[in-house]
Amino acid sequence: MSHKYHVFVCTQQRPAGHPRGCCTSRGGGQRLFDRLVGQISERNLWEAGISAAQTSCLGFCKFGPAMVVYPEGVWYTPKSEADIDEIVQSHFIDGKPLDRLRVYPAK
Ligand code: FES
Repeated sequence: MSHKYHVFVCTQQRPAGHPRGCCTSRGGGQRLFDRLVGQISERNLWEAGISAAQTSCLGFCKFGPAMVVYPEGVWYTPKSEADIDEIVQSHFIDGKPLDRLRVYPAK
């Protein structure tokens, strides 16, 4: 099976007071990754070629929580489980990136 999308979710944790902070302390991290995996599984999106992986720092901490979708290179900053659900519906099911939660870290 070829993959349609690879989704990477930053689950980096840094100590309190670290100058860069981390996606976990900004409300993201493991719980959002777990929600994404749950949605992919419940909605049978593995079969559609959508896979997810957790990752350490993606280098865009100030935009965090950080999540990126390849091959397009679309970046999101989901802050809640409901945000994950909205991205899954819009981007992976309807095929339309969700403008409301997009960020443009390269700009
Ligand atoms: S800690 Fe998540 S992008 Fe750096």
